Amino acid sequence: MTIRPARSALYMPGSNTRALEKARSLAADVIILDLEDAVAPDAKATARTQVCAAVATGGFGHRQVAIRTNGLGTPWFNDDIAAAIQAEPDAILVPKVSSPLDLGWISKKLDEARAKPSIRVWAMIETPHAILNICAIAGASAQMPQCRLDCMVLGTNDLVKDTRAELDANRTAALYWLSATVTAARAYNLTVLDGVYNAFKDLDGLERECRQGRMLGFDGKTLIHPDQIAAANRVFAPSDSEVANARKILAAFARPENSGKGVITLDGRMVELLHAEMARHTVAVADAIAAHVGA
Ligand code: COA
Ligand code: MG
Repeated sequence: MTIRPARSALYMPGSNTRALEKARSLAADVIILDLEDAVAPDAKATARTQVCAAVATGGFGHRQVAIRTNGLGTPWFNDDIAAAIQAEPDAILVPKVSSPLDLGWISKKLDEARAKPSIRVWAMIETPHAILNICAIAGASAQMPQCRLDCMVLGTNDLVKDTRAELDANRTAALYWLSATVTAARAYNLTVLDGVYNAFKDLDGLERECRQGRMLGFDGKTLIHPDQIAAANRVFAPSDSEVANARKILAAFARPENSGKGVITLDGRMVELLHAEMARHTVAVADAIAAHVGA
């Protein structure tokens, strides 16, 4: 399985030409060009033209590029998806996916327009229904592979709005949404990205929230400002000591005296084959990041 780093995913309003210009030089692993919430109704058409021209031009290097369309059922959706298919981004990020039926609809649109198979579908998980249906939404990637789903993105601001929850610094009320989505993503081998941190000038708070996201199992965090990229890249990469420890576990299992063993002792701890599997993943992520940064 190829790992494409997604530690930092920066949203950019599609109407902000200055931001779009910067996209090709920022250190974000993923650029999300937004046609939805960050764009006012009067600016939708211009943003669509601008974003799709930028994507078609390319030059984003190792960065994955996603276009976030307006939602299914909005007056802009059909034009957004048609233009996005032509522009050929890495992914189309669809807002407010609430059931596998929504993914079925998108799949139909992609088929009708003969969308290039490399274009993947990413789903915003940001409605109460999406949380209740999370297993079926993630499972659509296996039961309906033509829906192209390979990543889920938390929309915590919308979930707060719809549930009327109030988030404290530990995001207590959001933990259920976050964990349920990570668990479903892992069950179906999907990438999963945490929601945004609105107070973009508070870098300490951001760092704490990135750590919490990593602890919960996320692959990366969605961001709203370039100043947030460094923290997400740092926190969501395996640390040097984690990589060293992972390599040590792999080396221990590779020793002749441990061949065929399911469990060994290393530095006074029990280490099982499942730990070797985790270690292989840690090393693969670190290698993918190194290749990506060096690219
Ligand atoms: N992507 C790329 N560049 C960005 C950016 C982004 N998301 N946010 C800010 N910048 C750029 C600005 O264009 C500015 O560039 P310049 O100095 O070359 O002119 C620089 O970073 C500094 O911007 P700053 O003055 O600190 O921010 P701001 O007050 O102009 O904008 C926000 C603040 C929150 C409005 C803006 O960051 C933004 O629009 N973020 C994305 C919002 C979004 O997409 N929301 C939808 C998903 S939740
Ligand atoms: Mg939203």
